Amino acid sequence: MRMHPTLPPSLIFLLLQPFLCSFHLISSLSSPNPDPPSSAPPILDIPSLMSKNGCKAFASLLTSTADAADSYSSNLDSGLTAFCPIDRATNTFLPLFKNLTADDKLSLLLYHAVPLYYSIRMLQSNNGIVNTLATDGTTKNYNFTVQNDGEAVTLQTQVITARITDTVVDRDPVAVYAIDSVLQPPELFQAGCGAGAGTGTGA
Ligand SMILES: *[C@@H]1O[C@H](CO)[C@@H](O)[C@H](O)[C@H]1NC(C)=O
Ligand SMILES: *[C@@H]1O[C@H](CO)[C@@H](O)[C@H](O)[C@H]1NC(C)=O
Repeated sequence: MRMHPTLPPSLIFLLLQPFLCSFHLISSLSSPNPDPPSSAPPILDIPSLMSKNGCKAFASLLTSTADAADSYSSNLDSGLTAFCPIDRATNTFLPLFKNLTADDKLSLLLYHAVPLYYSIRMLQSNNGIVNTLATDGTTKNYNFTVQNDGEAVTLQTQVITARITDTVVDRDPVAVYAIDSVLQPPELFQAGCGAGAGTGTGA
């Protein structure tokens, strides 16, 4: 049987409806304990939120670097805390970023997110080393230290210290904070020296 090519979608739906209904009936009969209706929160568009909150340049690096934004997105359900440098910081850093290899660019961007959810309260009260999306499980590299200074929260990489300036979004299990500097990992940059070390990540 061949469907008429101009069959309107509404008619197709009407024709299919009995099948859809019986399928629904069967599936609800066969699963006595159906999952409660999912109350999934709306999907957060991290780059877009960053972009609207003073981190446009960083958001554009995220979306234009292969695998970077995807890697952030794949942690939205399990927990993610991201730190986006404000535009002034990112723009100052751009010449250094452009000098990095493709792998190192990705590592630098992944270094700005932690695969756990931290509210600002948690950051203010828990000092210590955190791993990032760039961390390799065996070497535990690409970490940084969260250190509070009263109410202020700083992120210390051994190369630079950035300060949280704003909360972009805080919706458990996802938080994004604006920071006043680009986080430069010791794996890619040397303390006190603006230029990239130019070494590979070995990743
Ligand atoms: C942090 O990263 C360094 C490499 O930069 C590594 O030697 C160290 O073991 C890591 N620390 C933790 C607590 O994971
Ligand atoms: C980029 O790399 C080149 C070659 O290593 C170097 O001469 C130049 O100074 C670097 N630029 C920046 C901004 O670090």
